[in-house]
Amino acid sequence: MKETPEDLHTPLAEKAEAEAEEEISGFRPGRLVEFIGQGDLKNKLGIYIQAARKRSEPLDHCLFYGPPGLGKTTLAGIIANEMGGQFRVTSGPALERAGDLAAILSNLQPNDVLFIDEIHRLSPAVEEVLYPGMEDFFLDIIVGKGPLARNIRLQLPPFTLVGATTRLGLLTSPLRARFGIVEQLELYSPDDVSTIISRGARLLSIDISNEAALVIARSARGTPRVALRLLRRIRDVAEVRSAPSIDVNLARTALNMLGVDSAGMDERDRRYLLALIDLFGGGPVGLSTLSAALNEEAQTIEDIYEPFLIQKGFIERTPRGRKATRNGYDCLGLEYSGDQVSDQRTLSLDGNGVTDSGTY
Ligand SMILES: Nc1ncnc2c1ncn2[C@@H]1O[C@H](COP(=O)(O)OP(=O)(O)OP(=O)(O)O)[C@@H](O)[C@H]1O
Ligand SMILES: [Mg+2]
Repeated sequence: MKETPEDLHTPLAEKAEAEAEEEISGFRPGRLVEFIGQGDLKNKLGIYIQAARKRSEPLDHCLFYGPPGLGKTTLAGIIANEMGGQFRVTSGPALERAGDLAAILSNLQPNDVLFIDEIHRLSPAVEEVLYPGMEDFFLDIIVGKGPLARNIRLQLPPFTLVGATTRLGLLTSPLRARFGIVEQLELYSPDDVSTIISRGARLLSIDISNEAALVIARSARGTPRVALRLLRRIRDVAEVRSAPSIDVNLARTALNMLGVDSAGMDERDRRYLLALIDLFGGGPVGLSTLSAALNEEAQTIEDIYEPFLIQKGFIERTPRGRKATRNGYDCLGLEYSGDQVSDQRTLSLDGNGVTDSGTY
């Protein structure tokens, strides 16, 4: 995919940048025991991996979904390590033609993990090739053209496919049905994020107090990637100031400089919330309207802003659209206008004559 200057500011570009940085510093935990948080998922996965190893079989195909930066790619790599196979990485958009996937599948070794990121973006032709590969470990290739065309069936070694997506709803149902393990990654608690920060600080050889790690964690939107990025930026501040370690004061000052408040909201979150309250009377307002008002893609809003704002209790998703909660008003220092007022405003905005005021 060619990158245009605008792309550099999209979440995808940010992710690519973050991932490049992550690879260099070797932040990704390599083993399941090193993976912090996601307790339920980790326990289940540990059992499945142990059982598969005992039976000398590959692990069932896994599908991980959830907001960006929560550890889907990391978990896929961990599975490869734990199963003793190689980690082969590709992505939905990278597999343009059926032949691209066939080439990868035919090069797999037993126990390999094939990781397909953004798996919801696979084309139908590529999915067709994937189905028999996932189900029965074979690959049908058509050789030649016209009347001379022949079908050749290739046996594949037992492998595990790990798919990752931020958009489970966009996966076709036949594809989804072929995964034995489907798990959601959730936003992390501040305690877990602070453990991840302390681990990251050890790897970067930075001294940080537990309290400072927790302060940063509270500002990290429950997301390890955000936490580790904040840590790196705060390390820069510490270095410039020749501070021997990161304490609470330094963490707070640096977060302030970065425009992140103590609730973890950055400029974009505040802009979202302000638009919801100021332009739409606190909602409910539909996603596409918000997306137009903010000049942001609906997907970015759904994947990146909203999970965090919902977790914080600042907004609600209702059948009639997004609504700011009392907490949402509070955190911006605004007076809550109450349900009635916001409902009336919606009616006038929608102009659709809906009269039931708010049984959603
Ligand atoms: N549980 C965890 N413990 C320690 N570090 C973690 C954990 N989860 C994620 N990380 C770190 O956070 C960063 C982002 O993780 P990862 O790339 O796996 O997220 P992702 O879910 O694949 O994101 P995306 O949807 O954008 O691809 C990595 O540096 C990774 O090492
Ligand atoms: Mg990833």
